[in-house]
Amino acid sequence: MKLSAEGICIGYHGEPILRDFHLQVNEGEFVSVVGPSGCGKSTLLNLIAGLLPREGGQVLVDGTEISGTSTRFSLMPQDDLLLPWMTVLENVCLYGKVHGGLKSLQWRALENLATFGLNGYENRYPHELSGGMRQRAAFLRTALCPADILLLDEPFASLDVITREDLQDWLLQMRQELGRTVVLVTHDIDEAIYLSDRVLVLGGRPAEIRLEQTIKTHGRNRAWLFAQSDLRQALYTALKEGRDDF
Ligand SMILES: Nc1ncnc2c1ncn2[C@@H]1O[C@H](COP(=O)(O)OP(=O)(O)OP(=O)(O)O)[C@@H](O)[C@H]1O
Ligand SMILES: [Mg+2]
Repeated sequence: MKLSAEGICIGYHGEPILRDFHLQVNEGEFVSVVGPSGCGKSTLLNLIAGLLPREGGQVLVDGTEISGTSTRFSLMPQDDLLLPWMTVLENVCLYGKVHGGLKSLQWRALENLATFGLNGYENRYPHELSGGMRQRAAFLRTALCPADILLLDEPFASLDVITREDLQDWLLQMRQELGRTVVLVTHDIDEAIYLSDRVLVLGGRPAEIRLEQTIKTHGRNRAWLFAQSDLRQALYTALKEGRDDF
């Protein structure tokens, strides 16, 4: 499904964070957003997901305006928001409990627990997990939710590099199989290049798109990523300039 945010405005305590901000993501497209800490990336995702009231503008899915939350979006917030009174499996399958289809969701969750390094932890509670394990449980919950549009806020930030690479590949494969639209926020330029069809660099206050870079995805693999030094440099420079204008 196609996602559009048009003329978005939001601020805190009179300070504008996003002013007349536009974002368009095509059906099945994977867009990453990078930008300095505090520039408004989480604000943007939370606002699209309907968790924050906007002062102006519209969020549209396939041309239909969305107000408030919607089952078309599956958001992984920066804070994992696992429910402390539910086990890992109950948290991961929360969507099924609320909207139906619990049994099939549980089956898919159990099938994927090992890939997510959570095998044997399905009946544990969130406080018994490490930060990275909580993040993996939250990511699995978001990814298994059948919404067409995934909004992922730094989903791999707490993971070691090997686990991160495994889950990046899992995400790419899942997206290929299910053709989902993804908006991913990350601080990792290589992650953005590896996963995305397009990368946006935000900067300044209010935040604006400082660079929009389309990524050639044909033949993408880890060796290809290693050779993308021009792309890496362009994104780095835009990021640095965006940070300096803060
Ligand atoms: N609830 C709030 N009340 C007041 N100010 C807020 C609130 N939430 C965010 N802000 C401010 O809005 C700005 C953008 O915050 P946001 O969390 O969107 O940044 P970010 O780009 O996601 O940063 P990071 O990369 O560190 O996660 C920051 O200056 C922050 O202090
Ligand atoms: Mg954030």
